[in-house]
Amino acid sequence: MKKKIPVILDGDPGHDDAIAWVMARALEAFDIKAITTVAGNQTLEKTTTNARRISALIGLDVPIAKGRPVPLLGNLITAPNFHGESGLDGPELPEPIRDIEAFSASELMAKTLRESDEPVVIIATGPTTNVASLLLANPELKEKIKCISIMGGGLRGGNWSSAAEFNVIVDPEALDIVMRSGVPVIMSSLDVTEKALCYPEEYERIRKIGNPVADVVAGWFDFFMKHLLSLGWQGATLHDPCAVLTVIYPELFEFKELYVEVELSGQYCRGATIPDYYGSKNKEPNVKVAVDIDREKFIEILVECCRFYSKEKELA
Ligand code: BDR
Ligand code: CA
Repeated sequence: MKKKIPVILDGDPGHDDAIAWVMARALEAFDIKAITTVAGNQTLEKTTTNARRISALIGLDVPIAKGRPVPLLGNLITAPNFHGESGLDGPELPEPIRDIEAFSASELMAKTLRESDEPVVIIATGPTTNVASLLLANPELKEKIKCISIMGGGLRGGNWSSAAEFNVIVDPEALDIVMRSGVPVIMSSLDVTEKALCYPEEYERIRKIGNPVADVVAGWFDFFMKHLLSLGWQGATLHDPCAVLTVIYPELFEFKELYVEVELSGQYCRGATIPDYYGSKNKEPNVKVAVDIDREKFIEILVECCRFYSKEKELA
């Protein structure tokens, strides 16, 4: 049997974070070691409650720790317009089972890295506040990180401001620290995630599966899609699942290796991710940016991941 990849899931669930975690739990390649939460789509308290409920839903019994309630600098921006007041509005979720750890997200990350024999993949689907805190406090642990797969940024612009994508504008300093860390970074930017669409007829396939997880996933799509339709999208943008799949299905993606910097001080463009297309900085690439996706195969994997929870029930 192939060795599983140890993984830490760090996020601010969030509908697409939640779907990313549903997929990560179903994919055999991963051994999920810990969940860490960050403030972003909603306040830290809310994203943490959501994380605990998702864990209960998908039967993922691993340590959960909460991160900083605010970004490294500046005030927290949240996205209730996309994710609702709870940060994960829509279908009812089970009550949390597992308590949170007594220590912080970055400490849980550090503990997980220290205890792992294999290098660990960090999949960060929210602002990268916790990951940056980990790197600042424990530079010696960098070698224990196989890669950091983030959802964030956009080579051609943003979705929160014209220049900046949401996860980056919430905490640009954190992403700057991650990008400069020397740890391999895979970036699922808007360039790819806005192509990772799931159309209504496709999530109807998920509803038809008829297990408790698939039902909830379909309900999340119903909620998420309402706001997206009002913005002119015909399908739901599955930003965060891309950060899961780039790790184990690189063949589904087209990547560009680039030197990318984060705009920190711009008056209008704070949080923009700027690629050095022309090599004028004379720097080695610091990130592998996914720019295109085989959307249909991606949807097949999503549907299969939702089916996994029917098999689980049969085995129980
Ligand atoms: C990102 O912002 C959040 O609203 C989503 O969960 C995703 O991580 C997309 O810009
Ligand atoms: Ca997210």
